[in-house]
Amino acid sequence: MEENQQVLIDSLPQGKLEESHYRMETAPIPEPGDGEILVRTTAFAITAGTRAGLQGSASYAGAPTTGIVMNGTGVGEVIASNVDAISTGSHVMAPTGWQQYSVQEAKAVTVIPEGHNPIHYLGPLGVNGLTAYFGLLRVGQPKAGETVMVSAAAGSVGHIVGQIARIRDCRVVGVTGSDAKCALLMSDLGFDAAVNHRDDGFRQSLKEATPDGVDVYFDNTGGDILGSALFRLNVGGRIACCGVVSQYDTDRPEPGPKGIPGLLINKRINMRGFLVFDYLEDYAAAREELSGWLESGELKSLTDEISGLEAAPGAFVDLLAGGNVGTRVVRLDQ
Ligand SMILES: NC(=O)c1ccc[n+]([C@@H]2O[C@H](COP(=O)([O-])OP(=O)(O)OC[C@H]3O[C@@H](n4cnc5c(N)ncnc54)[C@H](OP(=O)(O)O)[C@@H]3O)[C@@H](O)[C@H]2O)c1
Repeated sequence: MEENQQVLIDSLPQGKLEESHYRMETAPIPEPGDGEILVRTTAFAITAGTRAGLQGSASYAGAPTTGIVMNGTGVGEVIASNVDAISTGSHVMAPTGWQQYSVQEAKAVTVIPEGHNPIHYLGPLGVNGLTAYFGLLRVGQPKAGETVMVSAAAGSVGHIVGQIARIRDCRVVGVTGSDAKCALLMSDLGFDAAVNHRDDGFRQSLKEATPDGVDVYFDNTGGDILGSALFRLNVGGRIACCGVVSQYDTDRPEPGPKGIPGLLINKRINMRGFLVFDYLEDYAAAREELSGWLESGELKSLTDEISGLEAAPGAFVDLLAGGNVGTRVVRLDQ
């Protein structure tokens, strides 16, 4: 009989995450109860924020724990359904985790409309695309002609932030971790400038890339990049605090940068954190606008595909070291 292959959290990382913090297991395929569906995962996303969950710094994720399937958003096919509104054979986005089969409550899934590419629900039409959309437009509130800076700019959230800013006629400056990624942001995604945060001359390069200062900084990283951005922010600037990926892969996160609150006061900067879930009621409208941009070609979705469940732990370790370009997706259907 077919079984359910899973990747479990075997131990919690002290210091950097390693593949050995995970183990593979097989379990029986679960049975859906009343109001539930059985989903066969076709692909899932590996996202930086789940490292914060393992660290215990993401309060919404609860306390980190071992012996459970690694969490993650996936897409898959409905194999069996006890929900009238969801038919067998349809495709859904769901909190599948890193496993082949999962039972889901109807309220936990998003049915993917026919004709939509399910993989887009792990990227631009999924959690990360919505994060980029609401964080930039609602928190950052960019105006045409302003300069928008984004960190982890070649990552899943970041590459969408930069493109939305470009669509809104802003000057876009990306910060990322390699010269190749910088070149790609400018040649393929229309960024005006890109700066490598691993270069010794990063602060000077950022200054040169932002001659008119920065009006909106979309912060995916915290750390030194946030510290540098603070000095480039214009009076009345906005910082959308999205994530702190520079401080996730450690058990000794550094304190916040210098200049807070002094620079915030003197430059009247609005620094605001947000969670994408804050905008749940507006997801449908945002997806409509994002879909329109995808169809018109104004928004490109970069995915970085890996094949097979057993490759997921290594792919996560590599993502935290900057190995991904766009949304890292593990495919189970190839
Ligand atoms: N607020 C919310 O609701 C919400 C929702 C989803 C995601 N997020 C946040 O969004 C951020 C991006 O997530 P993602 O899934 O799109 O990941 P991602 O950007 O695709 O991947 C993580 C990237 O972080 C960069 N990075 C790693 N270590 C770094 C360091 N020490 N300094 C600077 N950059 C570093 C690497 O790129 P480089 O090569 O550029 O260094 C890496 O590719 C995360 O902070 C996540 O927590 C927030």
